[in-house]
Amino acid sequence: MTSTLVTGIGELVTNDPERSRRDQPADLARLGLLRNVALVVADGQIAWLGPAGKSPEADRRVDLDGRAVLPGFVDSHTHLVFAGDRAAEFAARMTGTAYDGGGIATTVAATRAATDDELRALLAARVAEARAQGTTTLEVKSGYGLDVDTELRLLRLAREITPHTTFLGAHVVPAEYRDDRTAYVDLVTGPMLDAVVAQGAAAYLDVFCEPLSPHAFTEPEARMILLAGRRAGLRLRVHGNQLGPGPGVALACELGAASVDHCTYLDDTDVDALAQSGTVATLLPGVEFSTRHPYPDARRLLDAGVAVALATDCNPGTCFTSSMPFVVALAVRELRMTPSEAVYAATATAARSLGLSRPLAVGAPAELAVLDAPTHLHLAYRPGVPLARTLEV
Ligand code: NIG
Ligand code: FE
Repeated sequence: MTSTLVTGIGELVTNDPERSRRDQPADLARLGLLRNVALVVADGQIAWLGPAGKSPEADRRVDLDGRAVLPGFVDSHTHLVFAGDRAAEFAARMTGTAYDGGGIATTVAATRAATDDELRALLAARVAEARAQGTTTLEVKSGYGLDVDTELRLLRLAREITPHTTFLGAHVVPAEYRDDRTAYVDLVTGPMLDAVVAQGAAAYLDVFCEPLSPHAFTEPEARMILLAGRRAGLRLRVHGNQLGPGPGVALACELGAASVDHCTYLDDTDVDALAQSGTVATLLPGVEFSTRHPYPDARRLLDAGVAVALATDCNPGTCFTSSMPFVVALAVRELRMTPSEAVYAATATAARSLGLSRPLAVGAPAELAVLDAPTHLHLAYRPGVPLARTLEV
């Protein structure tokens, strides 16, 4: 086992408020910022963390020359397994065509036609792209198969790169079931779910609940699907309130979902439900950037005490970015989150939505990002500049 001493850390974000200096304002305190510290990494874990002047010996030494180190980004909402792209749909949207989920059928056709090896190579390239920008943990959904075999294929491929896999057979109703939606709900809650559970292919089940999209699922349909998933032992996630006001957020909170994602159009009842439940509100501002929808009201959620996470939603339709730094910059500029709120949301709260809790401390996995900059502020201060990468030690 090789140990590595990491020195020259300009600022260490621990996400442990207990570590913050007493005189720090509450906004910054959540990040548990440390200076003049060093780390020893051994066997993929943090083996020592303490004052730089008291560093122990290690087999190797890496000097970061004043760079900031933070927990790696947790991208808790992605659709990374798909073939083809929808650049033409994006171009049409930029000249006024609205998004309604209809384009998902294009990706389903391309994905069904692709081989496992083709999909594996596409997935690997997207994972590499995310890691190159500081993401160490990924959630990956199915949802571009929409038949039993292809959904399982997508989840098996996702499983090769992450344990955080989500069954999204209820992404949209595929064309072949358009005239019999009930039969598709029966398929998702019956043979498709059974196969997913039998193979242990998913940790979560997700539904696109959006009455404003003719392709997505209504409240009664989504409720049936979520209840079936919960009975089968899967934890729940929901795509809710993306295109307009709707029942997705309330349903997610009622059923104890781990996360409800998008949350773009909320009323007071939704905000109260989120504040009362343990359900994380995951905001995906890259989607609003790429669809020209209004941004979600993060301030309203944070001020109500809601747990807010940030993720990319990387997918070929509404947001084809794998960049968590871009999302953090959008959250600060457009959602009016403070830089520390945004960094915390993109690391600690996103991790919480996946059942993970890992402030940086001895014994925690050494899943770290490093910035070519002295502080976390630079993520929003220098948008579009490739500052972040995973720290490989
Ligand atoms: O999270 N809204 C539903 N699903 C994705 C988009 C999928 C697609 O358009 O391909 C989302 O925005
Ligand atoms: Fe999504």
